Amino acid sequence: MCGIVGYTGGKQAAPVLLKGLYTLEYRGYDSAGLSLQTAGGIVTIKAKGRVEELEKRVNAAGRIESNCGIGHTRWATHGAPSDRNSHPHNSMDGSVSLVHNGIIENYLELKTELQAEGYVFKSDTDTEVVAHLFSKYYHGDGVAAMLDVARRLRGGYALAVVTADRPGELICTRRDNPLIVGLGEGENMIASDIPAIMAITRDFIVVGDGEVVRVTPESVEVYDKDGVRIEKEVQTVNWDIQGAMKGGYDHFMIKEIMEQPKAVRDSIASRISADGLPDLMSEGVGAELFADVRNIHIIACGSAYYAGLAGKVAFERLAKIPVMANVASEFRYSDPIVDSHDVCVVISQSGETADTVAALREAKARGATTVAIVNVLASTAAREADHVIYTWAGPEIAVATTKAYSAQLAVLYLLALTAAGARGTLTPDEIRYYCRELRDLPDKIEKTLAFGPELKRLAELYCACDDTYFIGRGIDYMAVQEGSLKLKEIAYVHSEAYAGGELKHGPISLIVDGTPVVALACDPELYEKQISNIKTVKARGGRVILITNGEYAIDPDLCDHLIKLPPCPWFMTASLSVVPMQFLAYYVGVLRGCDIDKPRNLAKSVTVE
Ligand code: F6R
Repeated sequence: MCGIVGYTGGKQAAPVLLKGLYTLEYRGYDSAGLSLQTAGGIVTIKAKGRVEELEKRVNAAGRIESNCGIGHTRWATHGAPSDRNSHPHNSMDGSVSLVHNGIIENYLELKTELQAEGYVFKSDTDTEVVAHLFSKYYHGDGVAAMLDVARRLRGGYALAVVTADRPGELICTRRDNPLIVGLGEGENMIASDIPAIMAITRDFIVVGDGEVVRVTPESVEVYDKDGVRIEKEVQTVNWDIQGAMKGGYDHFMIKEIMEQPKAVRDSIASRISADGLPDLMSEGVGAELFADVRNIHIIACGSAYYAGLAGKVAFERLAKIPVMANVASEFRYSDPIVDSHDVCVVISQSGETADTVAALREAKARGATTVAIVNVLASTAAREADHVIYTWAGPEIAVATTKAYSAQLAVLYLLALTAAGARGTLTPDEIRYYCRELRDLPDKIEKTLAFGPELKRLAELYCACDDTYFIGRGIDYMAVQEGSLKLKEIAYVHSEAYAGGELKHGPISLIVDGTPVVALACDPELYEKQISNIKTVKARGGRVILITNGEYAIDPDLCDHLIKLPPCPWFMTASLSVVPMQFLAYYVGVLRGCDIDKPRNLAKSVTVE
């Protein structure tokens, strides 16, 4: 959701900025733009649509000599996607140019004030307010101006500015929106996310909330909200840029589906000790966290929430601890009954999802111990939680999550087993058995990937259907919710996920001759019950794609298509059953001509409420 990049150094800025913007495309956007400092002033070029369109316009403008500039991909909030509303936004005299990620909540009040002072607005955005405000407060010291601006703003933002009178200087700040500074040799960059800086460096600092940074080719000065110079810890990216490239696949999504065995393997590898038990001690998570816990609250959005639902079932059945799974946007406003007796587990690939971060803060404020399961290094949730357990899924570029979801599940299993050990609900030997099975899980995911061609064939059969239903019970019900979301967001197919036993209470009226129904039957406790539910679908003409993993004898009349997964412990089946559903969504999306990696209206990192 909106991406910011800035460059200052010896290279031509335009190509570096464009390259950075391409790497930020995955965040989701509808327009793009850049501003370049030149000897003759600031040159701003913007375009509605893709970065490709912007690049065409930049090329059409001829060579623009510039070694410093800012770029932006916009995901519209205030004002429709258009050239006019695209960022950067400039001061009236064009001497200040600014990009913004987030929402300025008091923009109207500020706009009215500035208009009364004679400032003229050219766009419908909240951002333009900040450009004018900066020019009002700017008297040659960008850091001082930015601090003054920040004092006037409400809402969340990351901001970056160039001014015509300070060649080679970028000024930036942030609140509740991500921003990093990449540290190169004689060149530096700012960006919303790591892939954008990897053209020049692997070293970076994370800009903290309220901090203001002055970046030049040779220096990076960080100031706190009171204008006092501070030192920051330098971090180093531990994965390769290849991880953020397509590597011969047609889409990032299919590449990331295929990377799931590695994502799960990496996420558990160092977390099972030599004596075969879960070991999260390097994250500070041990038996004492769960020994006396009253409730566990799992909090997340979208797919991360669905991973959390599977985690809930594992925690409750294995460790016998009551778990509330909460959608983050609801949790924060629900006056939650949470205190120091509780553990709150937040799950987020990006670690920047505004609702999840806000829920984490709410839980902390109420005294709960917080654990964040996060994929992006040094992200806000990772920094703010009491304990962070990273999923080592590597960079996930496709907007729709696949491998990060699988890595989240794996970490949740480890946590649930840790809790079961702490509560004595499983013996050490039982836990060892599950840990051995967990170690084998990546190989079983690998075997499940072999169903890709079969799912492609099924996608060809059903891609024209406008409605699809997913049913499951127990752990399978949690898994089908993720499968259904995938089909909606990637292929724009209406789909719904139901608990198998709920069908007869209403939705079965929608099952007619030829309706595709994806039915999971992997939870052994509920297998027979689910088979009865599937029979009712078949009796009404539904076309059943059955996904199961047991050694069950399958009645040939039960389904139209059968996917038989490798056997594994019941709670780990969610890690296998999701794979065919991901393939189905992917191939149906491809056949329907959808924009697989950047589905319409969606953003990778949802940094607004
Ligand atoms: C769906 C998807 C989203 C995210 C959700 C939370 O494929 O990717 O539903 O799971 O927006 O994002 P994170 O995990 O970054 O907090």
